Amino acid sequence: MTRITDELVIRGNHIKNRIVMAPMVTFSFHGDDRSYYGKQHIEHYTKRAKGGAGLIILQATGVFGAVDSTGMWSADDVAALKQIVSNCHKYGTTVMIQLHCGNLDVNELSDAEIHSIQMNMKQAAIHVCEIGFNGVEYHFAHGFTLCKFLDASYNRRVDQYGGDSLNRARILTKILPEIRNNTHKSFIVGVRMGEYLPESSDGIEVARAFEKAGVDLLHISFGMQPPTNPVPEGFICSPITYSGCKIKKEVNIPVIAVNEIRTEEQVRFLIENDYVDFVAIGRGMLADPEFANHVINSEPVDTCSGCKRCFWFTDHTLCPAVKDK
Ligand SMILES: Cc1cc2nc3c(=O)[nH]c(=O)nc-3n(C[C@H](O)[C@H](O)[C@H](O)COP(=O)(O)O)c2cc1C
Repeated sequence: MTRITDELVIRGNHIKNRIVMAPMVTFSFHGDDRSYYGKQHIEHYTKRAKGGAGLIILQATGVFGAVDSTGMWSADDVAALKQIVSNCHKYGTTVMIQLHCGNLDVNELSDAEIHSIQMNMKQAAIHVCEIGFNGVEYHFAHGFTLCKFLDASYNRRVDQYGGDSLNRARILTKILPEIRNNTHKSFIVGVRMGEYLPESSDGIEVARAFEKAGVDLLHISFGMQPPTNPVPEGFICSPITYSGCKIKKEVNIPVIAVNEIRTEEQVRFLIENDYVDFVAIGRGMLADPEFANHVINSEPVDTCSGCKRCFWFTDHTLCPAVKDK
């Protein structure tokens, strides 16, 4: 039986347990003076590393500006990100960052615009590697630009970036060899995507295309829309989480499942029954920075209240679970 505390090695990175902090933008944090990232972010991620997370995936960070080192890639941002990485490593936590490409209409993009996105995707990964992160996760989920490439009904392109699953995944797979050539051997390249693109079979084909191209890790959330279909009897998690379990059966690279995983029982159910390799915890880890340690030690978890609209999207100090307002 797989245990939550079993390590899993990806490209030489020893991930010490199966509990991942999901990427979550900290909308009401601010940086220091001229930067986006700053002390608040450092404290936030350090607490979750201290709290036992095996892998932390930092919040979505735009690739734009990577080529000319502006925006979120300024010297001050890089300094804050370096501190986050160093603190996570101090607690034995593997740390990646999610990279996103905004919310563009892929059907309108010219060849030059696609090339520019790819150059920023590549350069952002190179920056991330130089900062010291263990890897990147490209954000191909939740209806954003990269997700629109993957979705067979949204993407109407007739060039090499539209059509079959290999073409729809090409925005990344084409530049993956260059990313590998410019990052060190143990640098993890992951993808967050959905299963329904728009059919389940589309998601499975895309997942296989990413695996074949050399992607190391898949994180299954949802695509253009969250799935609503029922889960099998006895499955104690959500349809989105079930998507992760379905993709896990179709590929040989590690898979992370996510969504409304809030209890020790759910974590054990998913990992000990080998439904997936990792569980990602979002709001549960905002509510309880020690979520991972609490689950591992079978201690009570400070449960997320499940507010209708999570306050972390607007003002985290209003979150009922935040103690240090
Ligand atoms: C405040 C907030 C910010 C989020 N930001 C991101 C993000 O940057 N990238 C992403 O892929 N998902 C983002 N998500 C979605 C989470 O990663 C996660 O998939 C979702 O919250 C469901 O998991 P949970 O029920 O454990 O919270 C965000 C969610 C919240 C609540």
